[in-house]
Amino acid sequence: MMLHVPGVLSAPQVRELRHALDAADWVDGRETVGQQGAQVKQNRQLPEHSPVGRELGKGIVAALAKHPLFFSAALPRRFVPPLFNRYEGGEHYGLHVDGAVRALPGSGELLRTDLSCTLFLCDPDDYDGGELEVVDTYGTHEVKLPAGDLILYPASSLHRVQAVTRGARVAAFFWLQSMVRDDTRRRMLFELDQTIIKLRARLGESEETVALTSQYHNLLRMWSDV
Ligand code: NI
Repeated sequence: MMLHVPGVLSAPQVRELRHALDAADWVDGRETVGQQGAQVKQNRQLPEHSPVGRELGKGIVAALAKHPLFFSAALPRRFVPPLFNRYEGGEHYGLHVDGAVRALPGSGELLRTDLSCTLFLCDPDDYDGGELEVVDTYGTHEVKLPAGDLILYPASSLHRVQAVTRGARVAAFFWLQSMVRDDTRRRMLFELDQTIIKLRARLGESEETVALTSQYHNLLRMWSDV
C-alpha cells in the first residue's frame, strides 16, 4: 500500500530544518548503498553519523509518533534514523530496490525494512523533475509532494528518482520495521481502523464500534510481531 501522509511537519518546522540542512556538510550519496545502488545513484547526502542529521532525524520520528494516520498505516516497531538527500544539476537515482535488512548505527542491531518513507522538504514549485517513481503490481506511481508531507510505500518496491533539472530537491528518507510484516494484513488493519474512526465520528460510541474495536485489537494481537 502507498499512502500520502500530509502535514507531518508544519511550514515553520520545515523552514527550521532546511536552515540547519543548508549549513551542513554533504557527501556523495553512494556511501550508503550496495553495489547495484552505487551504479545508478547520483546525489548528495548527510553522512549517516552527522550530529546535525541525527538531531533533525529525532525531531522527524517524534513528529511521526504524534501523527495518527501515519501510525495507523505503518504500525511502526523500529525506525532506521532518518537520512537526508539532495539532488540538483541533473542528479537522479536510477531504478533500484532498497536493502531488505539494515544495521542500526551505533548498536549494529539488525532491522528488517518493511516500509520506506520519503519526507519532502521543498515545495514542488521550487524544482523541476525529482519525481519519486514507485513501481508496484498496479503500475508506476509518480510522487512529488508539498514540503512537510510524506509518502509511505512498501520497501519491496522498485523505485527511482527522476533527474532534477532546475533548483534543488531536499528530502528526508528512512525505513521502518512494522509490527505487522505482511503488507496485505497491514492494509486490512489500516482500513478497518479508519472505518471505525469514521463510524465513531458519525454515530458516537456504540455497542458496534466497541465490538469492531475489539476485532481490530484481536487481529493486531494475532498478526503483530513485537
Ligand atoms: Ni531507494
